[in-house]
Amino acid sequence: MKIAIASDHGGTRLRAEITAMLEEIGLSYKDFGCDCEGSVDYPDYALPVAEKVAQGEFDRGILICGTGIGMSIAANKVKGIRCALVHDTFSAKATRQHNDTNMIALGERVIGPGLAVEIVQTWLGEAFEGGRHQTRIGKIAAYEEKAGL
Ligand code: RB5
Repeated sequence: MKIAIASDHGGTRLRAEITAMLEEIGLSYKDFGCDCEGSVDYPDYALPVAEKVAQGEFDRGILICGTGIGMSIAANKVKGIRCALVHDTFSAKATRQHNDTNMIALGERVIGPGLAVEIVQTWLGEAFEGGRHQTRIGKIAAYEEKAGL
């Protein structure tokens, strides 16, 4: 599984915790920054990573900002991206099983690193259930086509 990860200035510490965990469990990832001292704009990091996931260059994407909200809003503008803002392990599991999410967003200012790492591990390890859930995400994909997104 190829993973892309990025954060804005509000998520750099949590990004480091997550990449350390990915290294520990032997998953390959590419870190898209930010390498920032000061403030940056989260769409500049969310959109390129989301495009790479949508194009199949990476299987999954992980985005972190202060709240995770801006990153998730931006990523979900990219056709083919299903990005969930997740701050609990129940949702991490459910969003893979039901929504087949290919991206996850987290807020460094919302939860601690221990829970965040557990959420990412849960999300990476869970499979999509298909069936009625495929029908539902199919309707979102059909809307994207119809709307010319
Ligand atoms: C940056 O201050 C903050 O707005 C950003 O990290 C994120 O929380 C936006 O949704």
